[in-house]
Amino acid sequence: MATLALFDGPRTLADGAVWLPGFALPDDRALLAAVEQIVAIAPFRHLETPGGLRMSVAMSNCGACGWVSDRRGYRYENRDPLSGKPWPAMPPLFRSLATNAAASAGFPDFAPDACLINRYLPGAKLSLHQDRDEQDFTQPIVSVSLGLPATFQFGGLKRPDPVQRLPLIHGDVVVWGAAARLRFHGVLAMKAGVHPLLGAQRINLTFRRAR
Ligand code: SIN
Ligand code: FE2
Repeated sequence: MATLALFDGPRTLADGAVWLPGFALPDDRALLAAVEQIVAIAPFRHLETPGGLRMSVAMSNCGACGWVSDRRGYRYENRDPLSGKPWPAMPPLFRSLATNAAASAGFPDFAPDACLINRYLPGAKLSLHQDRDEQDFTQPIVSVSLGLPATFQFGGLKRPDPVQRLPLIHGDVVVWGAAARLRFHGVLAMKAGVHPLLGAQRINLTFRRAR
């Protein structure tokens, strides 16, 4: 009998890195409703890189601190620089999803304090990079994909290392930590399309323990 992609089991990508297809599907509508509430307070914005380029991905955050970039560099801030107010609180559902996904991937007790919310419209991309603005690299990264499909590049510990290309779809979760924590990763330019829940966009939630 054919197996629905929805029921595909975890896929190990590397030591410390797991792809959990459909892990967030049961929560998709609740997650998106929470994203709407967050971005009503802390709207999506295109950050500037330290080199002065405008990022094609639009970003917001929730949690005790949020990732920001500007001419001064990459860092975590307790307050939204646009409003001067603290970032919206991390919804309990976000926290439990991230903790459960991390546990399924072999990282018990993951307690994120930051959730970066990325919005990709067709054409947006994220170049290969490492997540290294956090203080404790023993904590994993949990990445949740919603909306349009994307090609996620998952590389090695050095930029020129070969990359795996994962066709991430709505509801997929990827977790990387331990020996994989500093692996390079990125997202290829998004193709046009329409998702039944989200229209022409992809939303990615990236959970981290920043401090
Ligand atoms: C990120 O690396 O911050 C986001 C990755 C993604 O959008 O899948
Ligand atoms: Fe990243």
